[in-house]
Amino acid sequence: MAEHIHPIFDRILQRSDREAQLKQRSKVIWMTGLSGSGKSTLALALERALYEKGFVAQVLDGDNIRSGLNRDLHFSEADRQENIRRIAEVAKLYLDSGIIVICSFVSPTRAIRGMARDIVGEKDFVEIFVNTPLEVCERRDVKGLYAKARAGEIADFTGISAPYEAPEHPDFEVLTSDRDVEDCNQQILDYLMTHIRH
Ligand code: ADX
Repeated sequence: MAEHIHPIFDRILQRSDREAQLKQRSKVIWMTGLSGSGKSTLALALERALYEKGFVAQVLDGDNIRSGLNRDLHFSEADRQENIRRIAEVAKLYLDSGIIVICSFVSPTRAIRGMARDIVGEKDFVEIFVNTPLEVCERRDVKGLYAKARAGEIADFTGISAPYEAPEHPDFEVLTSDRDVEDCNQQILDYLMTHIRH
């Protein structure tokens, strides 16, 4: 039997090899918060800041996922769950390639985020709560969606007609209503450094 077992494992590239080459430790940075809370803005600011420090990071958010991979999905509970399941699987592929992944999705329930955490793996999942009160998001209403949701033109809208369960124990939290983007981003960066430094 033993002669049919080929010792190829020493030739398979490991995540640790890729991390060594990139001089970083890969993580999945999972940002959760209401629509309009500032997740995407912070995710892009973080991606840019990491790039400038020599890290390799990639944002996954609604713009590149819901318009492509998940364009068959809407906002029912089941579709949101499937949305996040696929995203977590993609994030895990990035993770195994040594890349830092910044995921920016409403991911509204503890169950949905728990599933993402289970797929990615507890030790590699960093949950950041982008904590912006509903009133502030609604006042900003960057995309005009809150007005439409209030008018009944959008069903199942998070915070209005669908639930948002705030994380009870996020790894990190930013209160965006007190601070500007640069400040929030710096706080996140400071927090992340110990996790991603090789
Ligand atoms: S999630 O709930 O499945 O995690 P996701 O982050 O992908 O949501 O998409 C949320 C974005 O889609 C919002 O920022 C908003 O622009 C848009 N959107 C459209 N319809 C809805 C809705 N019913 N509820 C929440 N967001 C919606």
